Amino acid sequence: MVAQLLGLAFPFLLTILFDLTYGKAVYPLPPPAVEVNPSWEVVYQDTNVYGVVNKAVILECGSTSPDMYIWSFTKPGTEAIKAVVYDLGRGPRIQQLSQKLGKLSIISNSAAVSIEKLPLAAQGLFTCQAFYDIDKEPKVYYYYVHLTVRVPVTKPYLLVNDVSPVEGSTMWMRCNLENGTGPIQYVWQHETRSGNISTFAQSNTSVVNVTDVNRNHTGWYRCVVSNAVNSERSDRIWMDIIFGPDIPQIDVTPYTLTERGYSALERETVSLLCQAQSNPPSQYVWFYNNSQVYTGPQLTITKILRMHTGDYACLAQNTYLNTRSKKTISLTVYYPPDGSPSCSVEPALNHTSLRLLCSWSGGFPSASLHWTGDLKHVGQNVADMGNQANPLSDTALLLPSEGLTSSNSLYTCMGSHPALKRPTECSTRTYVPPAEPECFAYVTNNKQYLMLSCSWDGGEPKALVWWEGPGGQGKGGEENSNILVLHYGTARSEKPYTCHAKHPLLVQTKTCKLSLEAPVLLTQRRVVSVYEGSDVQLTCNLRANYLPVSEITWFNNHGTGVEDTSKYKLLRTSAWANLTVRDTEETQDSGEYRCSTSNAVGGTEINVTLVVKRHPMPPNASLVRVTYNNRMRNEVELEWQIDSEAEKEGGWTGFILEHIWVSERPGRRDSSNVSKEEAEGRIGPPIWYQNIIRDPEVRSHTIGSLTPTVTYQFRVTSLNYRTVGHPSAARSPAEPRFNAYPAVIGAAIGGMLFAAIVTALLLMYIIRNRNNNPRLHDMLFGSQHSQSRENINFPEDEVVAESEGGIEEIGGLSSPGPTLALPRASSPLTTSTPSAPPTIGQDPPPGDDNEPVSVTITVKATGS
Ligand SMILES: *[C@@H]1O[C@H](CO)[C@@H](O)[C@H](O)[C@H]1NC(C)=O
Ligand SMILES: *[C@@H]1O[C@H](CO)[C@@H](O)[C@H](O)[C@H]1NC(C)=O
Ligand SMILES: *[C@@H]1O[C@H](CO)[C@@H](O)[C@H](O)[C@H]1NC(C)=O
Ligand SMILES: *[C@@H]1O[C@H](CO)[C@@H](O)[C@H](O)[C@H]1NC(C)=O
Ligand SMILES: *[C@@H]1O[C@H](CO)[C@@H](O)[C@H](O)[C@H]1NC(C)=O
Ligand SMILES: *[C@@H]1O[C@H](CO)[C@@H](O)[C@H](O)[C@H]1NC(C)=O
Ligand SMILES: *[C@@H]1O[C@H](CO)[C@@H](O)[C@H](O)[C@H]1NC(C)=O
Repeated sequence: MVAQLLGLAFPFLLTILFDLTYGKAVYPLPPPAVEVNPSWEVVYQDTNVYGVVNKAVILECGSTSPDMYIWSFTKPGTEAIKAVVYDLGRGPRIQQLSQKLGKLSIISNSAAVSIEKLPLAAQGLFTCQAFYDIDKEPKVYYYYVHLTVRVPVTKPYLLVNDVSPVEGSTMWMRCNLENGTGPIQYVWQHETRSGNISTFAQSNTSVVNVTDVNRNHTGWYRCVVSNAVNSERSDRIWMDIIFGPDIPQIDVTPYTLTERGYSALERETVSLLCQAQSNPPSQYVWFYNNSQVYTGPQLTITKILRMHTGDYACLAQNTYLNTRSKKTISLTVYYPPDGSPSCSVEPALNHTSLRLLCSWSGGFPSASLHWTGDLKHVGQNVADMGNQANPLSDTALLLPSEGLTSSNSLYTCMGSHPALKRPTECSTRTYVPPAEPECFAYVTNNKQYLMLSCSWDGGEPKALVWWEGPGGQGKGGEENSNILVLHYGTARSEKPYTCHAKHPLLVQTKTCKLSLEAPVLLTQRRVVSVYEGSDVQLTCNLRANYLPVSEITWFNNHGTGVEDTSKYKLLRTSAWANLTVRDTEETQDSGEYRCSTSNAVGGTEINVTLVVKRHPMPPNASLVRVTYNNRMRNEVELEWQIDSEAEKEGGWTGFILEHIWVSERPGRRDSSNVSKEEAEGRIGPPIWYQNIIRDPEVRSHTIGSLTPTVTYQFRVTSLNYRTVGHPSAARSPAEPRFNAYPAVIGAAIGGMLFAAIVTALLLMYIIRNRNNNPRLHDMLFGSQHSQSRENINFPEDEVVAESEGGIEEIGGLSSPGPTLALPRASSPLTTSTPSAPPTIGQDPPPGDDNEPVSVTITVKATGS
C-alpha cells in the first residue's frame, strides 16, 4: 500500500536505499519539494530497523532536520498511535510514554531518536511526522520506522535421555536454551576420545533422535545454537555406549591352523588369548570340553600333551548388560608315533609284482611315509601312484617284476612327522632264493598217500610254488614249498607232475618235474642152480630209481615173507634186496622164490627158481689089498682102486675107509688092551669106524690102533662132497706074510692101536650127530668157510664163485645176463629230469644196506 502510494505520488521517485547494517538505516535525501509536490500531498516513507535488546539504536527521521516533527509509537497488536516526542520549533518535548521504551533521547541537530538499552517493549512501529519549509511552501513527510528488538541466544545446555545407552537402542539429545530470537540453528558436535571433532547433526529444532545407537557414538557431545544475533555453545557431556561382548577372537600362539582347527606339537607351550569387544570390558572364562578350566583372558598351557586335544571355548561376559558370547576352537596336539616305521615286502598280483609295505601307526596326525631305494628302474607312473608321501600310517608301493633288474635290492621307507625334527626310517631287502627249486616224493608209512614235495626256500619275499599234474591233479600256490598229496593209488603216470615256482623278482617261472613210473625189477639169474650145502644169493634190484617204492620183499619157496634168520640173510637197500639162502638143502630149499615191490603207480614181482642139487654119485671104489703089516695085528694096510672107466672121469673128492669088528678070537683077549669103546662095540650093534681120506689121489692107507685079538672087516667108499658112493665089498685083512715079529714091539703097537680105536669112535660120533655139531661135520666134509671148498669141483664149473659167500650159480641153467621181470603195471615209467640229472644225495650210498629208506628221488629243477 505504501509502495502503491509512493508509486502514485512520485512516479519518478529515486530509489530508496537501505543500509542493512545492524541497527542503522541510511536514507537518501528527500528530493526538492517544490517541483515534485505540486498537489500538496503528504509523502510516506517506510524503513525497518533491527535492534538488540539492551543495546542502543538510532531511529532516523529523514535525512535533513525538519522544521517540526512528531515521533509516535504504535504498540504491536494495537491501533493506537501515541506520541513519544515532538518538537514544534521550540525544542524537543519527550513524553512520559517514552519511559517504557527505554532511555530515549534526541540527537542534537536532527530529529533522530536514540534509545540506549533497548527494551523488548520498544518493539513496534515508530512514526515520525516531519514538516519542512513551513514558511514558504510547507511539505509533510511521514516516516514509518518498524523497530524489531532481537534477543541473543543464551548458552544452551544439552539434555540426553540416557548418557549410557545400550548399543542398538534409540536416544535423543535436546539442546535447551532460555532466550533467543528465532530462527535458531542447532548444531550438535561429537568429539571422539582421540579429540576429533565433527558435526554430528544440524537442525532447526532442538532435538535430535539417534536410532540404533552404536559404539562409534561414544564420545563428547555439545550443541551450538545460533540466531541472527549470536551463537553460543553448550558444555560437553560424555556419552558412554554400552555394548558387547562381541564374538570373542582367540589368538593361538604358536599359530598353526589346519583344516581341522588349530594344532600344536606335544610339549610345546601354547597360549590362547581371548579378546571380545565390550563396554564395560569383558570378563573371560575358559572351558575345555565344556568344563571350566580358567578365568581370565589368556589361557597358557605349558608342555601341552596329547591328552589336551579337544575343544577350547572362551566365554566373554558383559557383567553390566549380563550378556555373553562364546567362541570355540578345536586344538589338536600333534604327537609322533612310537618307535620307527616297520618295513616289509610281500608279493602282489599273483607274484608278478612286489609290494613294499611301510607302516608306522600311532601318532597324530599319521606320519608321512615315503619309499626310497632302488626305484630308479621303476616306471615313473608307478612311482608316482604309489609313492606319494601320504599322511597315512601305511603306505604300499607296487613294483612289477619287469622293472626289477636287481635280484638283491634295498628299499628304505622314510617316515616323517611334524612333531619330529628328523625323519625315522626302516628298510627291507629283497632277494631271490639262492638255490633252485627242488622236487621229491615220498610215501606215508601206511602207504595211504603219495606226497610230492616241491620247495624253493629262502628269498624275500617268499616264492609262490604250485603243482600241476596230469588229469587235472594239482595244487594251488603256496609260499616257499608245496606238498601235493595224492591218494596212493590215484597217482598218474602219463605225464610228469610239474612244480612251478615264481618269485616276484624274476619274470620267468622256474619248474621242476617228477615223472611217476611203476617199478621194474631185475635179477641176475632167473634160475639159480646150486649144489647142496652151499650158500646161495638171490638178487633182486630195481632197474632205475623210481618214485617211492615200497620195500623190496622176498618170499621164499613156501610163499612166506623172508626175514633175517639163521636160514636166510637179507641184505636190502631201497634199490635192491639180496637174499642169501644158507646151507642149502635139496628138498627144503629148492623152489620158486619171489621178490616183489610196488609204488604209487604200480607193482611188480619177479620169480627166481632155486635148484639145489645133490652132487653126483662118485664112482665105485674097490679094495684091492687088505693086509696086516705086522705080526702084532694092530695095523692094516689098505689099497683100493676106482673102477677103470670112472677113473678117467673123476667125480670124487675123497674116500671113506671103514672097518668093523666082526669077531674076537677066544683066548687071545687081553682085556687090559681093549678100549672102552671097543668093549661097548662088542656088546652093541656092529659099528663101522671111519677114516676120511680127503685126497682123491690117494689109493692106500694104513689103519692103526687095531685090536690084535679082533677080526675086522674093511671097505672103502668114494666120496663127492656130501654125496657118498656105494661102499665096496668088505674084506678081512690077510695075515702078514712074516709071522715072526719081535714080541718086544708088540706092546708098543698095542698102544697105537688104542689111539686108532679112539679116533674111529670119535668119527662115528661126529657123523651121527652132524646136525647137532655142524662145525665138526664141516671140518670133516667141507664148509663155506673152510679152504676145503676150494677143492670142490662142479660138473658145470663155468662160473667161478667169486664171493666169499660161496654162491654158486650155474650159468648153463639160465640165460646169461640179468633176467628181467616185467612189471605188472602197463605203463613203463621213469623218473625223468628233462634238463638236469638227479643230484641230491637222497639215494643211499652203495653198501648202506641196513637202511630201508623210502625216500628215493630228488629231481633238480630245470630253470627255465
Ligand atoms: C530472558 O528474558 C526474560 C524476559 O525478557 C528476562 O527476564 C530474562 O532475564 C532473560 N534471561 C536471560 C538469560 O537473558
Ligand atoms: C524424535 O523422537 C520423538 C519421539 O521419540 C518424536 O516425537 C520426534 O518427532 C522425533 N524428532 C525427530 C527430529 O525425528
Ligand atoms: C564404527 O566406526 C568404524 C571406524 O570408523 C567403522 O568401521 C564401523 O563400521 C563403525 N561401526 C558402526 C556400527 O557403525
Ligand atoms: C575332549 O574332546 C575331544 C574331542 O571331542 C576328545 O577327543 C578328547 O578325548 C576329550 N578330552 C577329554 C579329556 O575328555
Ligand atoms: C596266478 O598265476 C597262475 C600261474 O601263472 C595262474 O594259473 C593263476 O590263474 C593266476 N591267478 C590270478 C588270480 O591271476
Ligand atoms: C646184491 O645184488 C646186486 C645185484 O643185484 C649187487 O650189485 C650187490 O652188490 C649185491 N649186494 C651184496 C651185498 O652182495
Ligand atoms: C657099484 O656097486 C654097486 C653095489 O655094489 C652096484 O650095484 C653097481 O652096479 C656098481 N656100479 C658100477 C658102475 O659097477
